[in-house]
Amino acid sequence: MRIIFAGFGTVGQALIKVLRQDEQRIVQAYGFRPQLTTIVDSQGSCFDEAGLNIPLVLKTKEKYGTVAKYPGSGRRNDDSTRIISDSDAEVVVETTPTNFKDGEPGLSNIKTALSTGKHVVTANKGPLALAMPALLELARHRNRRLCFSGTVGGGTPFLDFAAKCMPGERIARIKGILNGTTNYILTRMENSSLTFQKALAEAQKKGYAEKDPTNDVEGFDTAAKIVIIANWILAKSFSLRDVDITGISKITPRKLRAAQALGVKVKLIGRIEESSASVRPEEIRADDPTCVPDTLNALTFSTEHAGDITLIGPGAGGERTASAIVRDLVSIRKEYAV
Ligand SMILES: NC(=O)c1ccc[n+]([C@@H]2O[C@H](COP(=O)([O-])OP(=O)(O)OC[C@H]3O[C@@H](n4cnc5c(N)ncnc54)[C@H](OP(=O)(O)O)[C@@H]3O)[C@@H](O)[C@H]2O)c1
Repeated sequence: MRIIFAGFGTVGQALIKVLRQDEQRIVQAYGFRPQLTTIVDSQGSCFDEAGLNIPLVLKTKEKYGTVAKYPGSGRRNDDSTRIISDSDAEVVVETTPTNFKDGEPGLSNIKTALSTGKHVVTANKGPLALAMPALLELARHRNRRLCFSGTVGGGTPFLDFAAKCMPGERIARIKGILNGTTNYILTRMENSSLTFQKALAEAQKKGYAEKDPTNDVEGFDTAAKIVIIANWILAKSFSLRDVDITGISKITPRKLRAAQALGVKVKLIGRIEESSASVRPEEIRADDPTCVPDTLNALTFSTEHAGDITLIGPGAGGERTASAIVRDLVSIRKEYAV
């Protein structure tokens, strides 16, 4: 399987390490050897039809901050869509930054890949949050897979669980905590009476929150995941515009203490009902299985016959997201034998 990486940051580099570390096991268990032929980052690209030298790629990226300095085939200022469309690789792994305004550059990368006959594995929520029904349609039309396990729950298989383990069951509602950063902030505000700003600063120091935390704390990241879940598991045609979104930046320690006194906790809950979707701080009972602490994620599926089923696990993280991407690559290999 020849693979192009569009994006080579935390997730891309974790993936390359996981693929290298697990190479023998993957070859033995699934009979294929993923071969990384092209990498594109924000400054350029590198290419080797026979497979890039992974230690050299990592060394080059570490030393120069870009793969464009890769000895021999590194190039500056390349256009990722041109590289994708010209390549004869079978799969594009798309891990460029999430952009909820216009989905770029991921949206064009994914469209180009599918239109030129390549499967796509993405961890990038932007294109899916804005245009998931159209992208799924394009993938179906081109008979190619568009896989996105890494977009929701990191390594915890929320999407696969619902899609593969509950066929035949009607899922009436879904609710959950889908953002580790905000869950950590709320947990710290509640347990140590920190203000929102102090808890956010602590989350940033620990590497849980980004320098610009807007997407997490204002609820957009959770909303994007709700869109992906709604489209994939409940066959809705939602985009970000359909989600009623309120973040956690106005929550005070006092509100959290008042909730605690009543045996409830305030959590940023993503929710999908029959015809609506929302993300907002909600009071939920402390003994509700969805009510997990720290950076954990939890998703509860309310089903018609089996009752409520809750899946709990760690959320985002480079290596965890890489694990989800490997799952997707294996699933493409099983279906298409590439
Ligand atoms: N990190 C996580 O735990 C996690 C979990 C789930 C999903 N995700 C999603 O996965 C994606 C990647 O996350 P990350 O943490 O790896 O982000 P990151 O560290 O910021 O890496 C992004 C990569 O994309 C490259 N890039 C930026 N603009 C580009 C362009 N126009 N063309 C080609 N490449 C471009 C960057 O290049 P440079 O290296 O030159 O800057 C970088 O290599 C994001 O969409 C994120 O939301 C991340």
